[in-house]
Amino acid sequence: MPNTFFIFVLVLTFAKQTISFVDDCFNCPNSTLKYNKPLSYSVYDPGWSLINNGALEVWFRTGMKNAMVVYEDDGGKGEFFDVFLVGGKIRMRMQVGYCNIEKRVINGSFNDLKWHKLVIRKEKKNTTLSVDSIAAEPIQCSSQLDSMTALYTGHLSIFVRESSNSWTFPSSLWQSINNVFQGCIKDIQYVEDGVITRPHLRATVGTERGCSNPCQSLKCRHGGRCVDRILTAWCNCEGTGYQGKRCARVIKNRSTKPPTTKSLTTKKITYKVKDPNKIPLLQKEREVSAINSRIKNIGVHHGRCMDLWAVATATVLGMAINT
Ligand SMILES: *[C@@H]1O[C@H](CO)[C@@H](O)[C@H](O)[C@H]1NC(C)=O
Ligand SMILES: *[C@@H]1O[C@H](CO)[C@@H](O)[C@H](O)[C@H]1NC(C)=O
Ligand SMILES: *[C@@H]1O[C@H](CO)[C@@H](O)[C@H](O)[C@H]1NC(C)=O
Ligand SMILES: *[C@@H]1O[C@H](CO)[C@@H](O)[C@H](O)[C@H]1NC(C)=O
Repeated sequence: MPNTFFIFVLVLTFAKQTISFVDDCFNCPNSTLKYNKPLSYSVYDPGWSLINNGALEVWFRTGMKNAMVVYEDDGGKGEFFDVFLVGGKIRMRMQVGYCNIEKRVINGSFNDLKWHKLVIRKEKKNTTLSVDSIAAEPIQCSSQLDSMTALYTGHLSIFVRESSNSWTFPSSLWQSINNVFQGCIKDIQYVEDGVITRPHLRATVGTERGCSNPCQSLKCRHGGRCVDRILTAWCNCEGTGYQGKRCARVIKNRSTKPPTTKSLTTKKITYKVKDPNKIPLLQKEREVSAINSRIKNIGVHHGRCMDLWAVATATVLGMAINT
């Protein structure tokens, strides 16, 4: 991987991020975090040790098709696992001991804005990935992961590692930077012989406590339905006879066409045409902010307040990854 890439990231890192260190919070109800910035991430200590009988559990909620959920490794020695949403499916890659890298995919649309429970369970030789109790074929390897550096969520920021060489599986690093998780993650816990421990949140960037419903600050009038898209919300005024951001304006009879999202879709396609692979990362970041401000401007369109922020981010940052 070219060094210039890391310099770009480094520049961005320093330009855009301020790390907030947070108090340890064992079992506190506010352990939910909303990842709502283009470079959101968290780091938890200690990492989960994948030993004889135990499980890692994580709840997530997102609208993103492609995004990193969790990653762990041993600091470059050869063991790791990562879990990504890929096209709405859940994909885990794992390398333990002297076994080969194994991959498991669970089909589904786990980017449906609902909460989902991810579990990685180790039982003797078998490591099994499951989401909402749909389990993949176990990965069979007698070794165990026992010196994990930390548990990462959101994406892998090079800010928390001194060198790019210290990542066991740089493919995860690269894919995560291009597919930063946006949504909410909660209740990360390690279960070992029935005993539950919660890791300490060492650092978090671009997150906020809770998974607040944006509909609380958007009151739709005249019976319009507020649609919670996690990061933002919009009013669906369908059938109310009203339009506007809050369904406050009467639809005049002259305009016969019902509100549509066609022109917005067209705008989205304009961005999709650009080949993100050809844009240097810094340029890509500019694209993101350009799109963000553009979306602010077209936030109200044909009587609907649209949430395109996540879509735009996913479009520009969500580069080709395959299950
Ligand atoms: C989270 O909750 C705990 C107690 O339940 C409280 O002590 C702590 O200040 C809260 N933290 C935040 C960031 O709200
Ligand atoms: C998942 O979907 C792929 C194709 O979309 C299919 O080949 C595969 O058998 C499916 N796996 C399961 C476990 O249903
Ligand atoms: C491990 O998985 C295999 C294949 O699903 C199964 O046959 C075996 O019984 C499992 N072993 C344990 C200890 O769960
Ligand atoms: C719109 O037109 C219909 C008939 O086409 C009429 O019944 C209705 O009262 C009109 N509504 C308004 C708000 O003018």
